[in-house]
Amino acid sequence: MKGIVLAGGSGTRMYPSTLATSKQLLAVYNKPMIYYPLSVLMLAGIREILLISTPPGVAALRTLLGDGSALGLSLSYAEQAEPRGIAEAFLIGEGHIAGDDCALILGDNLLHGAGFPELLRTTREQLDGCTLFGYPVSDPQRYGVGEVDATGALVSIEEKPLRPRSDNAITGLYFYDRDVVDIARDITPSARGELEITDVNLAYLKQGRARLERLGRGFTWLDAGTHDSLLAASQYVQVIENRQGVRVACLEEIALRMGYIGVEDCYRRGADMRNSEYGQYLMVIAQSIA
Ligand code: DAU
Repeated sequence: MKGIVLAGGSGTRMYPSTLATSKQLLAVYNKPMIYYPLSVLMLAGIREILLISTPPGVAALRTLLGDGSALGLSLSYAEQAEPRGIAEAFLIGEGHIAGDDCALILGDNLLHGAGFPELLRTTREQLDGCTLFGYPVSDPQRYGVGEVDATGALVSIEEKPLRPRSDNAITGLYFYDRDVVDIARDITPSARGELEITDVNLAYLKQGRARLERLGRGFTWLDAGTHDSLLAASQYVQVIENRQGVRVACLEEIALRMGYIGVEDCYRRGADMRNSEYGQYLMVIAQSIA
């Protein structure tokens, strides 16, 4: 399975903070926002990942993450010059996907909860068509919304409905089988001029091959696309990390635990950043596992 992180967009909602940098490079507490979605794909066991961003965004992401080898990953990059819709990721990423299954995650989504790695693994193994993740929110009209019947089967999907049929917002993490590129090629831009991810999901639903995995209330899904939601996400990470003494979305730790890198690699990365608390954490983790 291949992975894509979509980290483009004009960022205008966060001006002036994003005048000189991408939103996805802003810090969520103590690390760049992009670490959080990237960690999700890593936890799903995906190592070939395409990062899509604006031309300056790609340059900055490349400086941050390089070819991914320090994390035991194979990272590649592609530009999306204009935000022509989330589903365009599959057209831009066609060569990367190369007929494989694909997981897409939006670059400003933070997902965190007990049992998540196992859930990701089973989602991947049982994939038939597409799997979406639903999360109960108080303001579903801001999102794609999925409605399930009494048996838990997905029966409708609507993008930002005025009168939502449920409180299940569809998160920015999506798993698709190999048909996704053809499906994305077939859809047309919406009234707002975008290739909508909801139209891709509706095509799978029409084929009876769309599933909604509902994330429980013990789970956390945040997006960090406004100043307030960015601050809320930072505070969430700060509280969890300081209380538990563990790090959320520490990429080297995940790479080490997944067996993508060795103890020495992790220690060296930490030593390179030893002036930061993140670097010190990496050194401690490496020593505790050695
Ligand atoms: O966050 C989950 C929601 O994401 C879903 O519930 C909705 O169904 C889905 O349409 C999307 O809604 P948003 O209104 O949040 O989409 P937005 O246009 O804000 O884009 C989400 C992220 O994707 C944002 O960080 C920018 C990036 N993006 C977006 C578009 C349209 C791109 O990189 N390229 C694009 O062309």
